[in-house]
Amino acid sequence: MVVGLWFAVLMGAVTLVGWLLWWWNDVRYGRLVMATLGEGKKLPPGHMGFPIIGDLLQFLWYFKFFRRPDDYIGSKRKKYGDGVGIIRTHLFGKPSVIVFLPTTCKHVFRDDKSFILIWKNIEIVGETSLVAVHGKAHFRIRSFVSRSINKPDALSRIALAVQPRMISALQSWVKKHKVVAYKEVKKVTFQNIGKYFASLEPRRTLDELEECFAGMVKGFRAYKLNIPGTAFHHALQCRKRSMLIFKDELEKRKKIHARSSRPINDLLDGLMNLKDDEVYYLSDTEILDNIVSLLVSGFETTVLVTTWAIYYLAKYPKVLQKLRDENMSLKNNKNGQLVTSDEILKSKYTIKVVEETIRLANVVPFVLRTATKNVSYKGYTIPKGWNMIMWYLHTNTENFDDPMCFNPDRWDAPKKPVTYQPFGGGIRHCVGNMLARLQVALILHHLSTGYKWGLENPDAKMRYLPYPMLEDLVEITIENL
Ligand code: HEM
Repeated sequence: MVVGLWFAVLMGAVTLVGWLLWWWNDVRYGRLVMATLGEGKKLPPGHMGFPIIGDLLQFLWYFKFFRRPDDYIGSKRKKYGDGVGIIRTHLFGKPSVIVFLPTTCKHVFRDDKSFILIWKNIEIVGETSLVAVHGKAHFRIRSFVSRSINKPDALSRIALAVQPRMISALQSWVKKHKVVAYKEVKKVTFQNIGKYFASLEPRRTLDELEECFAGMVKGFRAYKLNIPGTAFHHALQCRKRSMLIFKDELEKRKKIHARSSRPINDLLDGLMNLKDDEVYYLSDTEILDNIVSLLVSGFETTVLVTTWAIYYLAKYPKVLQKLRDENMSLKNNKNGQLVTSDEILKSKYTIKVVEETIRLANVVPFVLRTATKNVSYKGYTIPKGWNMIMWYLHTNTENFDDPMCFNPDRWDAPKKPVTYQPFGGGIRHCVGNMLARLQVALILHHLSTGYKWGLENPDAKMRYLPYPMLEDLVEITIENL
């Protein structure tokens, strides 16, 4: 009885102290901001959460335990949303503004002087990589990278380079009969990246590169502490090692090109040989930084979308049948030859399946910008240095009818403006968006025309961190059609 009483008093005291800290943190921010911005300025509606950790507990509650990420935003909108589309909070270690209306996202993307992209732990991909540079330098590097991976001639070259590995990977899945799709897709996608990035064959170097890549990705999410034993330190070591692998390849190329002018058809050669309008080539560091940053930006996203496509097609057999019909007629016209990028990107139903997968899988649920100055927006002030978190509502009923249904035919109707932004927006819009679509479409072509598969755990649970995926990583059984 006495113990129970003490316990109740203790719980009451903890709750009271927690509530006081929560209340005080928001008041403190309000005062601090008014002292710097001046009287009469208003922060966006919302709450800054607890000292130091901000809103992290609520975020984890909805993402990790409750497993309903949309409700995280939903609950905030209910409490603080006032039609302007911004809510203040403290997330990922910084005071932030969540942007949740498509038109407000568009405004932030467009105002690229007031809101810029600052990647955390940028040292891992390098100071001259596309994601690290701004202004003119960004424009210049972006044009190099875009020409090397996202334009029609690059796409047609990559389409032919990646299919042989896709075909042999799918045959190997059948031999195993039961496979974990995510792991297998990861393997074949990495081998293909090795191929079209730097003509690397699946040998030791590629295995080492894959290990380095995993280390770098962990480093991005880690606390920036560069001492042995930390994830950040390990990531920097992994970067060094990857740079050496690519540098080695770069030097070999220079020797080859001194003897012959015949280009090698891969990204490394593309970046080495392109000139900009002023006839400047990229420097060695720029080439290497960009190879590493493309690897980090484009690998995991493509793997996740491909795995989700395999899952949705198993769940929606009518969609699979329509996809198969379209691809069978394409295959029958090819007489055993590989499909071209042009043919697959013009296959209407296939592209609708790819687009619908990208929408529903929502593998990049938000992107970040940072305010470069105090910015006024519809009566509120966003202080300099605050993060803008652009939240995509691809699964919101305001933006899509019956959003949780996998329905490729929804793409026949015109989209509501700016509701679909899986590749971000403005000048930072994903530079690999067509390449990503192409790779997913190609693997679906070979999968749908040669194989049938089923889910081992149709009711597998979802997890959302660090990325949205099913807990069983999509285990399937697969056989020849
Ligand atoms: C379905 C797969 C993909 C998704 C969902 C995706 C999504 C995104 C998003 C949301 C951004 C941020 C845009 C912003 O900040 O506004 C981005 C940027 C970027 N993506 Fe992708 N991406 C995918 C595939 C790829 C691929 C295959 C590559 C290249 C191999 C790539 C390379 C990049 C790069 C370099 C940037 C930075 C662009 C810049 O700063 O100018 N992405 N991507």
